[in-house]
Amino acid sequence: MPQRGPRGVLPALDRLERWSGGDHIIESVRHAVRSLPLGRGRDALHGRIGLGHPVHPLLVQVPVGTWLSATVLDLLPGERRGQRVLIGVGVAAALPAAASGWVDWAELHHQQQRVGLVHALSNAAAVGAFTASLVARCRGSHTLGKGLGLAGLALTGVGGALGGHMAYRQASGANHAEYVPHVVTPGWHPLGNVSDFPVGRAVRRQIDDVPVMVVREAEGAVHVLADHCSHMAGPLSEGDITDGCVRCPWHGSVFRLADGWNVKGPATAPQPAFDSRITDGRVEVRIRQRAQTDLESADTA
Ligand code: FES
Repeated sequence: MPQRGPRGVLPALDRLERWSGGDHIIESVRHAVRSLPLGRGRDALHGRIGLGHPVHPLLVQVPVGTWLSATVLDLLPGERRGQRVLIGVGVAAALPAAASGWVDWAELHHQQQRVGLVHALSNAAAVGAFTASLVARCRGSHTLGKGLGLAGLALTGVGGALGGHMAYRQASGANHAEYVPHVVTPGWHPLGNVSDFPVGRAVRRQIDDVPVMVVREAEGAVHVLADHCSHMAGPLSEGDITDGCVRCPWHGSVFRLADGWNVKGPATAPQPAFDSRITDGRVEVRIRQRAQTDLESADTA
């Protein structure tokens, strides 16, 4: 008897993650989004500035909330102006939400981008349905407007489910270095002789199974950061070292060697940093317990 593969939503999403048929479109869109001259606005859209985690999930609350509220009001007799206002606010708020989503999406890996493209298309269709609903209502076609609103809400649900899959199953936007302070045992750890670390070059080592990157400065200071980038776990020890910072080789996030602060995104979280000392010619390190707010004040000083 022929074996049947698993069915359901999750296997379908797994197949979508592996489907490479649309990768040429993804590559073109990714290139276009990355080429936009957004300046510091790009980091703001990522959520690096002032928030410390992706801003996209926050911004989508407005369209989802207003559209759901309008649909609930549609079930009640009477009131019509309120629905129009709610739908209009949701359509307007969808624009910054989409902008933040696209800049995040452009810095993901292929499997995430495949799901993300369908997520974006569902949401774009939802914006279209609610815009059409608003137009129909303004023209007095309330039944049509309600129907289009229901269709828009269903599309919003599909987009939201795909967004949840990206965030929680594929870890898009999650801090990929958050685990480090939890698995490194407290206290000083030997790392090797000072002479093992060439000046100005990153060297990879392990502490309690956690990969770290070590950079010795000409003046003698030894900087140690977790090696897996907080953005998507890229290997920082393979990145460029310039001006007291390391640039991630995968998507270009820049971290200050002295304290791990994310000077430039897409990483929204700083990199775990270690204190170091030299005892009898040997380098020892321990995980640094420092609040993110301390790093932010150093960033703006
Ligand atoms: S993994 Fe994306 S910037 Fe480092």
